[in-house]
Amino acid sequence: EARVMTSLPETRPIVIAHRGASGERPEHTLLSYDLAIDQGADFIEPDLVSTKDGVLVARHENNITDTTDVADHAEFADRKTTKTIDGRQETGWFTEDFTLAELRTLRARERLPQLRPGNTAYDGQAAIPTFAEVIALAQRRSAELGRVIGVYPETKHPGYFASIGLPLEPALLAALREAGWDSAEAPVFIQSFEVANLKALRAETSVRLIQLLAPGGSPPDGGTESYAAMITPEGLAEIATYAFGIGPEKHMILPDWNREPTSLVADAHAAGLRVHPWTFRAENMFLPQPLRGPGISPDGAMEREIARYIAIGVDGFFTDYPYRGVQGRASA
Ligand code: G3P
Ligand code: CA
Repeated sequence: EARVMTSLPETRPIVIAHRGASGERPEHTLLSYDLAIDQGADFIEPDLVSTKDGVLVARHENNITDTTDVADHAEFADRKTTKTIDGRQETGWFTEDFTLAELRTLRARERLPQLRPGNTAYDGQAAIPTFAEVIALAQRRSAELGRVIGVYPETKHPGYFASIGLPLEPALLAALREAGWDSAEAPVFIQSFEVANLKALRAETSVRLIQLLAPGGSPPDGGTESYAAMITPEGLAEIATYAFGIGPEKHMILPDWNREPTSLVADAHAAGLRVHPWTFRAENMFLPQPLRGPGISPDGAMEREIARYIAIGVDGFFTDYPYRGVQGRASA
């Protein structure tokens, strides 16, 4: 029975497929998630936004102009609009202005065609998946492969969605409940940058929560603290009251390849938090020249980078190239 899954063994760092195997397939498609599973990912990561009828779908943001063929659909021409989301003005087409049935008529496109020309071969082939479909894929492939593949959803703009009457949390928890994955033992992590969103989720569910952290500024919901304050020992102790771990941008752990790491991993562990940095990918390779360059990843370079982070002590990591994550972990 595919729904009954045990939790993952926690004896090794987990490989989290960032938007699927997004280095090789258009992000947030079942093609991308499926390839990630083939490559050995432990978790697949859907970023989640809402449709007009309150269904969660996998997109990096609600603006779908650059990741779908919506601009080619004459019937939706009048849906193009400008709005302000989390303080940023944006123009385009937005998921909350489409029903799921309407979104289903669109097809995904590669976001970064210049960087990832090979991915454009898959343009037009995949629909926008619902969160329920992503969970179903993970459960079906877990049963087929005999190993647990979990989901690692991120709530995108939860404060904004709540403000327009489409809160993400009830739909998120309902989908997990429906799948039998709504417990602390389930192979699920829910991540968000927004503190209030995670605290609200904590009150509703025992599913493991991850506080995302960026190198500068503050959480987008106008949280009272800066990220800098959140990574002090006091800040981490506060995070530990509601979260299982943190998801920092990787330079917060290793600011420069030629320097010692920061104390973030050790401080987080001291607070009882796991650490899952993001994102290991071609375009922000973090190695000395000439081993890095825009859009390229020489053989073995990303694996070396990942192995170094594992040596520092991370408990998992997000990568656009899950097979490189698996290789990097094997070489650590
Ligand atoms: O969720 C970790 C990382 O994915 C956060 O950045 O923008 O890729 O969702 P983003
Ligand atoms: Ca994400």
